[in-house]
Amino acid sequence: MKTRRELLQYAGAAFATLPFAKAFAQAKSSSLTLPGPIVVSTWNFGMQANEAAWKILGNGGHALDAVISGVAVPEADPKNTSVGYGGLPDRDGHVTLDACVMDENGNAGSVACVENIVHVAALARKVMEKTPHVMLVGEGAQQFGLANGFPKTNLLTPSSEKLWREWLKTAQYKPIANIENHDTIGMLALDSAGNLSGTCTTSGMAYKMHGRVGDSPLIGAGLYVDNEVGAATSTGVGEEVIKICGSHLVIEQMRAGRSPEEACRIAVERIVKKNPVKRDDLQVGFLALNKHGEHGAYCILKGFQYAVRSNSQNTLIDGKSHFA
Ligand code: GLY
Repeated sequence: MKTRRELLQYAGAAFATLPFAKAFAQAKSSSLTLPGPIVVSTWNFGMQANEAAWKILGNGGHALDAVISGVAVPEADPKNTSVGYGGLPDRDGHVTLDACVMDENGNAGSVACVENIVHVAALARKVMEKTPHVMLVGEGAQQFGLANGFPKTNLLTPSSEKLWREWLKTAQYKPIANIENHDTIGMLALDSAGNLSGTCTTSGMAYKMHGRVGDSPLIGAGLYVDNEVGAATSTGVGEEVIKICGSHLVIEQMRAGRSPEEACRIAVERIVKKNPVKRDDLQVGFLALNKHGEHGAYCILKGFQYAVRSNSQNTLIDGKSHFA
C-alpha cells in the first residue's frame, strides 16, 4: 500500500506530463498566474475572425493555429476590400497581398506582393515551417504556394474591379482614413498553455504603386511576438509604421514595464512627432496583448476599433486616439 507522500508524488508526476502542467509550472516560476486564452484583432471585422479563432483557443488549441484560422475569415470574404480575396487592387489592377506570422518560439514567416493566393497568412506560416527563409515575395511566393497545394484564385472581384475603374477616372492617390486605411487584420492570441502567436494579413493600401509593400509582412513593423513579453500588430499607413519599427517598439515598451495601451501610445506619438499636423489621410493604429492577457490599443485618428474574445469578453473596443 502506498503512503500519502508516495501518492502525492505519483499524482505530481502524472500531472507534470500534461502540457498544461508544463505551462503552469512556467507561470508559477515567473510568479504569473495563467490568464486563460484570449484573442484580439484589429477593426470590426475582427469580431467574426475572433469567433473562428476562438473555436480553437476556447478548446485548448495552439495560438498559432487559432490566429491562422481566424484571419482566414476576412481573407476569404469578398466584401472585405482590404484583406485577401476582394481586396482593392494596385493602380495597375493587380491585387497583391502581404502577410506574416510569428510563434511563441520566435519563429517567423512572411510573404509579400503575392498574387492569386487567398490565404496568405497560412502561406507565410508555410514559409516559416517549410523553408530555411523568413520571407518570400512576388512570383517566388506564388510559386511556393501553388507547389504546396494553395489553389490559384483570381483575387479581383467584379465589385473591386468596378471601384478601381472608377478610381482610374481621376487616379488621385489620397486614402480616406478609417475607410481605405482600415487595411489590415492583425490578430494576436494567448493560448491556455500561456503561449503567444500573431499574424497580420492585408491587400495593402488601395491603388498603391505596383510592387509597393507596406508594414504588414515586415517582422518588427506590422507584427512582433516575444513570448516573454507580449505581441503587437499595426494597421494603417504602413510607410509610417516601417519608419519607426512600430510593433517591435511596442514590445520593447512593454518589456520596460508599460501597459499595452501605454506602449501603443508611445509608438503612435513617435509617428505624430514626425507628422505633427493632423491629416485625414494619415491613420495608424497599434494593438498589443501582453503575457498576462492584458490588451490595449492606440491610434492617431479617432475611429480605430479592435475586437476581443476571451472566456469573459466578446466585444469591440474603441482605441484611444491622439487626435480627437
Ligand atoms: N498597413 C498595411 C499597409 O500599409 O499596407
